[in-house]
This record gives sequence, C-alpha cells and structure tokens, in this order.
Amino acid sequence: MCDHDARPSSVGSFAVISREPVAEGVHRLVLSRHAADSAGSLDAPAPGQFYLLRARPSAVLLGRPISVYAFDDASISFLILERGEGSRELCSALPGSLVDLLGPIGNRFMTPRELAAGGTGPLRVACLGGGIGVAPVAGFALSLEPGTFDFYASFRSTPYGLEGIADRARRLVVTTEDGSAGTKGMLPAVFDASEYDVVYACGPTPMLRYVKDATASVPFSFLSLEQHMACGAGACLGCTVRTTGGNRRCCVDGPVFDAKEVLL
Ligand SMILES: Cc1cc2nc3c(=O)[nH]c(=O)nc-3n(C[C@H](O)[C@H](O)[C@H](O)COP(=O)(O)OP(=O)(O)OC[C@H]3O[C@@H](n4cnc5c(N)ncnc54)[C@H](O)[C@@H]3O)c2cc1C
Ligand code: FES
Repeated sequence: MCDHDARPSSVGSFAVISREPVAEGVHRLVLSRHAADSAGSLDAPAPGQFYLLRARPSAVLLGRPISVYAFDDASISFLILERGEGSRELCSALPGSLVDLLGPIGNRFMTPRELAAGGTGPLRVACLGGGIGVAPVAGFALSLEPGTFDFYASFRSTPYGLEGIADRARRLVVTTEDGSAGTKGMLPAVFDASEYDVVYACGPTPMLRYVKDATASVPFSFLSLEQHMACGAGACLGCTVRTTGGNRRCCVDGPVFDAKEVLL
C-alpha cells in the first residue's frame, strides 16, 4: 500500500499563516510550506499521510500526529480537535508563531484507479469521515476525479472540514447526532455498503468497527486509524495495531489498513 518511504523525511519549524475555529473545539491551522530558517520547503505529502506537530514553545515533549487536510504551493493545512495539552497549544497558535513538523509519515490511500487496474470498469467509491476523521478522507477525496465518489460525513453537531466536497462529490450525505444539519443520527442511518466497490474511512473506533463489519462483502475497504503514538518512526512500538497478519505499527505500516485485516 506504500510506494514511498513511510518514515519521516523532513523536520523543521514552519510559520503559522492563519488559525481559525471551524466548529466548537476544532481549528483549521494553516502553516507556510517553507521552513522558517529557509532550510527548504515541504515536499507534497500523499493523501492519507500525517505529520507530528508541536507548537513552539510547548509543554509537551513529543509532536502530535495530525493528518494532512490540504496542501498547495504555499501552505499546508490541518484540522485539529482540542483534546489535551498538545492539541490545545496548536489550537491557540498565533499567526507568525512557529510549529515544529516531522513528516510526512505513513502509507497512503490506494486510489480507485490503482485498485481498478486490469478490472472491468470504474469502481463505485464511498469516502466516510466521522468527526475529526473527516480531515484525511476529505483531503484524499479532493484528489479524486470530480463526480467519481460519494462522501458521507457524520458529526455530533455542526459539520466542518467539507470545503469543496459538495462541488466534487457525486453525492454528499451529512449526519449529525443532534439533528442540527443533514440527517439526524449516525452513519448506519444513511450508508448502504452494498452500493459500493471501494470504501475509505476514518473516524472514531466504534464507527470503524461498524464500517469493517458493514463492508465485509465490499471488494476493497480501507480504514485510517488514529492510534496513540510516540516516536512516529517505527521504533517504539507504541502504536501497535493487531491484524490478521500479526502486529503492525500504525505510524509506518499504516495509518491506512485493509479493513479485512485489521482487528479492532
Ligand atoms: C495517524 C493519525 C492522524 C491523526 N489525525 C488527526 C487530525 O487530523 N486532527 C486531530 O485533531 N487529531 C488527529 N489525530 C489524533 C491526535 O493525534 C490526538 O488527538 C492528539 O495526539 C492528542 O494529543 P493531546 O496532547 O492534545 O492530548 P493528550 O493529552 O495526549 O490526550 C488527551 C485525551 O485525548 C485522548 N487521545 C489522545 N490521542 C488520541 C487519539 N489518537 N485518538 C483518540 N483519543 C486520543 C487521550 O486518551 C486523552 O484522554 C490523529 C492521530 C493519528 C495517529
Ligand atoms: S509511534 Fe513509535 S513505532 Fe509507531
């Protein structure tokens, strides 16, 4: 699932261009792609990869894994949910301040085109994002050909992270638990796995368990996992994931795993 080095290739400090709230407790952080010390710029990450991020100054020792949400010639963007100290610092970073980045890390989502190679025709594609898990899936979906995928996004309340998706998806389906937008309820209320040949998902573990079970008969189903991490370089085994093929490291063997292989 990986045609590039899954270990972090660059490290440096990057200036905050902007940081704005997009929903309660969730911020979009936009960093310059060019290192603050002019020591180069970030190579384009593959959709599904992540970086370790640490605000400067910081009270935490290690960077926190955050998926790439968007990337262009000048900047790289992340969607960050405040959980503890590390994410709170990032969600308070001011324009002009610095953030340490290590990455890009991990494998990537295989594209429908790669999966269909030699097959009978275009695949029916669904992208599923739950809460902050919408970030890597939306970033990936925006790299697909417009009109070739359906996008399902489930939130507790106010939706976020869906810029550009409605214009490019064949269908955008939103659910909220409080009914404030879209269909009231969760993913199972709107998702029928039998309509698809390939499914890409990221979200909380209960949602991923549901997707794994629901897509058991779908030819291709991929889950992007968000394990707790430490080194992010494959060395500490702090991010172990159980699979049918034995233990794997979420950081460098994932974060994207075949749903049929991963044990949740
Ligand atoms: C590959 C990958 C990609 C990720 N992408 C994103 C992203 O795009 N945006 C984003 O906001 N977050 C993302 N996360 C989760 C993010 O890394 C954690 O929320 C963050 O590390 C928490 O650090 P903290 O210092 O704020 O909280 P801590 O003080 O470390 O923890 C605070 C609380 O959050 C819980 N927590 C910590 N890490 C996780 C986790 N991985 N999953 C669930 N609960 C956790 C802890 O158990 C604790 O209860 C990703 C994680 C991984 C592994
Ligand atoms: S975080 Fe250390 S091996 Fe994955």
